[in-house]
Amino acid sequence: MRKLPLFVFISLFTTGLFAQNSEWVYATIDVQNAQNLKANHPNQIQILESTSLVSAVYMSPEAAMELKDYGNLHGPGYIFRKNQEAALNALDFAPQGNTNVLDFTITEDAYVNQCIAMVNETNIENTILNLQNYGTRFHTKPSGVQASLDIKANWENMVNTAGRSDISVEFFNHDFTNQKSVIVSIPGTEFPDEIVVIGGHLDSGDYWIQNNAPGADDNASGIGTLTETLRILLETNFQPKRTVQIMGYAAEEVGLYGSADIAENYSLNDKNVLAVMQLDMTNYNGSDFDIAIISDAAYTSGELNLFLIDLMEHYNSSGDHPITYGISYCGYGCSDHVSWTENGYPASFPFEAAMGEDNPNIHTTNDTYAAMGSTSIHSTKFVKLALEFVIEVAKVENMSTNEVQASDLLIAVKDRNLIYQLNSSSVKMESVTVFDTGARKMIEKKNLNANGSISLQEIPNGFYIAIFKDANGKAYSKKFLIK
Ligand code: BES
Ligand code: ZN
Repeated sequence: MRKLPLFVFISLFTTGLFAQNSEWVYATIDVQNAQNLKANHPNQIQILESTSLVSAVYMSPEAAMELKDYGNLHGPGYIFRKNQEAALNALDFAPQGNTNVLDFTITEDAYVNQCIAMVNETNIENTILNLQNYGTRFHTKPSGVQASLDIKANWENMVNTAGRSDISVEFFNHDFTNQKSVIVSIPGTEFPDEIVVIGGHLDSGDYWIQNNAPGADDNASGIGTLTETLRILLETNFQPKRTVQIMGYAAEEVGLYGSADIAENYSLNDKNVLAVMQLDMTNYNGSDFDIAIISDAAYTSGELNLFLIDLMEHYNSSGDHPITYGISYCGYGCSDHVSWTENGYPASFPFEAAMGEDNPNIHTTNDTYAAMGSTSIHSTKFVKLALEFVIEVAKVENMSTNEVQASDLLIAVKDRNLIYQLNSSSVKMESVTVFDTGARKMIEKKNLNANGSISLQEIPNGFYIAIFKDANGKAYSKKFLIK
């Protein structure tokens, strides 16, 4: 709970900053918070409808302010909705588990390995330093609007320098704010209608801190991660089979506004987004592992989360680019991945640390590069994961070396056993690890034979992923269902 000193209150009032917040708002909030607010201030909030997790509400600015004091929230603690209909519709988003089974493969080893070796820490540093120098990127401030124009100009310049007239860099304008979202589109050569998205918000600040919001970690680090990913894709003349879009979202800090607008627009236009990766806070190294896969069932795709684990097991479990990972939970709709999930698209959110071990300086004047030790090493790991994700979902022309990998290993589930058969009798199978869709490790076995079976007696019905490793260090991933 963060209390404001009195002078801040007074200056906020006298500078009229509350003017923009002086009206009741439609929003969705945590169901428990809605009930607490209603109990404490019956006249300040109307609960329109609730699910087991979330309530659609209409509330006064006082109620919105009070939310700050409820629980472990970092920002406003509510997702702003345009009107009553939007608030109610938000309750209906597809619950997890009803989405199609994603069947992503890992086949592009040669190109991915080339790309992840190119990640350069200094480039990320430059982006973070540049963005924190705006003082604030709050969406209503001139410097916040300017930041979005400059990010577009920079990405455009990179694309032009690479001589890629096929790639577009466009603004996505919003009614609610002058700050613009920015979208880079790298068109797919074979399946242009199938889209892979990586994105992060370009604004900074929150309800309380609008004027001096360097936002180095939250979220210059995400924009730095995206910019470095784009640089490498351009320098290697990336020609994806599917369309790849890189997005800088406007006005996230006031309730996911930019991404909600985009995801809703994509859904209304029936755009086929296969997978979304959110990059929000990538540079603070706070946990004893590198990347926390945020795994809230209501807001992320369990299967996509597993795919990220699969990617890290494949590319980063040993060798020159090690990445360690863990599982964590936001506990509320904490970033732009939620906008995509709510519109039915599978989204994941790899995050800088376990919740509670993340950067304590965000949304303060102290969210600076120096406060993160003036290094961008942590963000380099997110660039690698973003490259792996984008390349493996989109696939590239004529570059894969490893296409037959999946069929080298056959599996079947029979009588609650996982039967496997490696198609090369000379290689021994080293290990198998089984994860559930919450990315929890369910089974781990070492020293296996080339063919064999593993008991599934101990684990409940559901979807799982098995990652096998052979004696040559090659990884094979397989999804299976126990029913
Ligand atoms: N980067 C934060 C989200 C975050 C903070 C995630 C700490 C995990 C740990 C994001 O910019 C933010 O501030 N989100 C808001 C919610 C949003 C709906 C305005 C928040 O966390 O309150
Ligand atoms: Zn934030």
